[in-house]
Amino acid sequence: MKAPWCVPANCLQEERGPDIARAGPNPPLPNQTMLMERIPDEHACMTLLKKHECPDHIILHSRMVWTVAKIVGEGLMRNDVPLDMELLKASCLLHDIAKYPCLKGRKGWHDAVGEEMLIQEGLPTVAAIIGQHVILKDGNGGTIREEHVLFYSDKRVVHDKVVSLEDRFQYLADTYGKSPKALEGLKIMKEKTERLEERLFEVLDFRPEDLPKLVEGVR
Ligand SMILES: [Fe+2]
Repeated sequence: MKAPWCVPANCLQEERGPDIARAGPNPPLPNQTMLMERIPDEHACMTLLKKHECPDHIILHSRMVWTVAKIVGEGLMRNDVPLDMELLKASCLLHDIAKYPCLKGRKGWHDAVGEEMLIQEGLPTVAAIIGQHVILKDGNGGTIREEHVLFYSDKRVVHDKVVSLEDRFQYLADTYGKSPKALEGLKIMKEKTERLEERLFEVLDFRPEDLPKLVEGVR
């Protein structure tokens, strides 16, 4: 079944009506925006999360990741970094959509499975961002984009609490660091996240340690 927020390219002819169909073999090209993927709003995100049996505690976590990302994203935009906040919001709300299915089935990486699920839902742009919330394709170079803000914000939230990177990675080590290899992987991820934090806060007009207070201010 097609996702209601997507406009399939092959429905354009019907939407344009019989006049267009009669216009000859080469009708005008459809408006580009009609071909673009629609980004799901909050209600659509919640519907998707429920459809995939996302538990309430993961929804709470995802909402807090969005609260942090909104503060970081708006701060970046104030300082001339262009971001699509609608896309960022949908990506934050949906980033852990596959966590429960992966835990329940005891298989698959929730970032990769989540990316695939959202592609199937007709949301390839959101899928590409959430597919990077554990491993960023472009770690620390180039332009700051929505995936960097999601990645960082997720690393500042344990359950639904805003914490430091230090505390977040301690939690990850306690939960997932069951072998020397896993611990080494987390150490590398922590170093990369620290470099990303430096890069983001070179632009931002507040400090990493201000985030908990800023979050309290918007709640
Ligand atoms: Fe998360």
